[in-house]
Amino acid sequence: GQQPSHAAVRQGAAYDSAFLRAARREPVPHTPVWFMRQAGRSLPEYLKVREGIPMLESCMRPELVKEITLQPVRRHKVDAAIFFSDIVVPLKAVGIDVDIKPGVGPVIADPIRSFEDLQRLRPLEPDDMPYITEAVGLLVDELGSTPLIGFAGAPFTLASYLVEGGPSKSHEKTKAMMYGEPELWAALVDRLADITAGFLKIQIEAGASAIQLFDSWVGALAPDDYRRSVMPASTKVFDAVAPYGVPRIHFGVGTGELLGLMGQAGADVVGVDWRVPLNVAAERVGPGKALQGNLDPAVLFAPTQAVETKAREVLHAAQALGDSGHIFNLGHGVMPSMDPDALTRLVAFVHEASAR
Ligand code: CP3
Repeated sequence: GQQPSHAAVRQGAAYDSAFLRAARREPVPHTPVWFMRQAGRSLPEYLKVREGIPMLESCMRPELVKEITLQPVRRHKVDAAIFFSDIVVPLKAVGIDVDIKPGVGPVIADPIRSFEDLQRLRPLEPDDMPYITEAVGLLVDELGSTPLIGFAGAPFTLASYLVEGGPSKSHEKTKAMMYGEPELWAALVDRLADITAGFLKIQIEAGASAIQLFDSWVGALAPDDYRRSVMPASTKVFDAVAPYGVPRIHFGVGTGELLGLMGQAGADVVGVDWRVPLNVAAERVGPGKALQGNLDPAVLFAPTQAVETKAREVLHAAQALGDSGHIFNLGHGVMPSMDPDALTRLVAFVHEASAR
């Protein structure tokens, strides 16, 4: 059974962490910081344990997931762990033939293009992912007062992979379905909302103390199309996990024009990429929500002095939120070629520069 009270109990040890306090907009000793894709190919210890193990297989080995998730916490002293998995893992769990090709991304053997194809997207049942439940449980025991962020792909971003059959810059087949076959599109994103909500519930039930919904590619849409064709499905996801009371983060890339709507969809924290300063984002999102972000990831390739200047600008812009409500992050994920030491230094800098 899916009992919200159980999750609240497991959240206990991390409840007063700077990360969860900031997400609730409560006073913090320092601005919390974590990085999207903090686990992964930027870390030599990751490359070592992943050697010879395909990406999706690694996501189904709880001891390995635990180790990979903990690596950036140990190394960088970030304020939160993000569960090591991938947005396509629940699609695999319901039987979609998907693989993650190195250097390419998720590839779908038989793309979803018709009502008939939709039948292959069956709902995710609570016991469909025992390896996720086990890995989250192992992690929460080990992490103690460090919160674990669970995550899932949002309906639009998942739909793009399923309809295109793989990564796409223009999302042409996806948009063709959205504009040309609105009923099929609505049915597709509704089914994906149920799968996504199911994946998040499994992680929260097992002890994740916050969740992030990644709508990485939704910045490809204009606000009216987002409101009409995507927002109802994303709202369904946020509503489904609302009873658990864990902070809900909503993130996408290139979403400057969508920030207000992405907050309204049901997020407690809105993730911002590097294109919109946080003080401007705060106005677009409106009161009552925390913000996460938003250092340009590419800044990490510059000398330390420049990184610190840019990080200070982010902290300064976040003062528009008041005393709390800012979670420091990059505007998108860590890149494989980044120097991990630059990330470690950045965490220490943000903690020092924001100490209250
Ligand atoms: O942030 C973390 O540390 C947690 C792990 C995580 C992964 N994928 C691991 C991963 C998270 C949160 C994701 C989410 C994800 N996956 C998103 C949304 C986040 C974003 O970047 O906007 C998307 C769009 C995907 C789909 C996906 N999976 C892509 C585009 C790729 C890259 C393909 C490549 O090789 O360039 C993946 C593979 C993937 N997911 C890797 C990792 C560590 C790299 C594969 C490997 O290590 O062999």
